[in-house]
Amino acid sequence: MRSLIDIKELSLEEIDSLVNCALDIIENPAKYSEKCKGKKLATLFFEPSTRTRLSFEAAMYELGGNVLGFSEASSSSSAKGESVADTARMISCYADIIAMRHPKEGAPLVAAMNATIPVVNAGDGGHNHPTQTLADLLTIKRKKGRFDNLTIGLCGDLKFGRTVHSLIGAMSRYKNIKFVLISPVELKIPDYVKTEVLDKNGIEYVETTDLQGAMAELDVLYMTRVQKERFFNEEDYLRLKDSYILDLPKLQNAKSDLSIMHPLPRVNEISVKVDTDPRAHYFEQALNGKYMRMALILMLLGIK
Ligand code: CP
Repeated sequence: MRSLIDIKELSLEEIDSLVNCALDIIENPAKYSEKCKGKKLATLFFEPSTRTRLSFEAAMYELGGNVLGFSEASSSSSAKGESVADTARMISCYADIIAMRHPKEGAPLVAAMNATIPVVNAGDGGHNHPTQTLADLLTIKRKKGRFDNLTIGLCGDLKFGRTVHSLIGAMSRYKNIKFVLISPVELKIPDYVKTEVLDKNGIEYVETTDLQGAMAELDVLYMTRVQKERFFNEEDYLRLKDSYILDLPKLQNAKSDLSIMHPLPRVNEISVKVDTDPRAHYFEQALNGKYMRMALILMLLGIK
């Protein structure tokens, strides 16, 4: 029995296999429509979500399975004081696989240690979001055709943005990757990501506050929202929230085949005028999340 808590738990071969499975699902959806017949996915969401929860649920339905769960902590017995460990043990009696989002870093790991069914981390605090990274990887594969030889700009809240931490963890294992880390000084990438991932893998990176200065060299620009819910102080959030707003003039010196990505939800950081630019790939990215979650459910349930 296997869970997915951190993207680095997947080998490069397994990532290739998930991507290939997702591509096959896109081409041959009928082939997969009963693969999870009789199986149940429990979505345990202790924090708000639109894409992750609903794409997990759509994924399970499109595999012929069923879904149960809750979308806020207040409607579960955690509001009465039940621990994550006990919740995970209980849900193991009712479902075949769990997708859990929690504001506390490490909560899905605790769930995985106590469940008797696979647990997928659907986002834990400001830490990790491995299935978002699977969506990102499929998008990069479909748009760029490769995972090697890419210069990737990550822009916005690199401190609290869990999607960024997971994406760096995944892309740092490919060849000739360079990261341009674009953020306000207060929202720089955490030191542990630099030492344990970037430095450890000998990955080239630069830190800058200048989005436009970096634009011309980027193959991928991954914009992120400033994570209001992780701030201790509203004043700081208000001061930093509009640090970067991508609009059409800022894209003037960008590559013609730039891939603009964003895990969503968007607040202000990409102008809606960018949405019709052919380089804007963030809505397809959300769709790719459903296909990769389908592939992941099959893998963790051991279904061919
Ligand atoms: N990208 C993402 O995790 O979106 P949701 O918060 O809507 O799930």
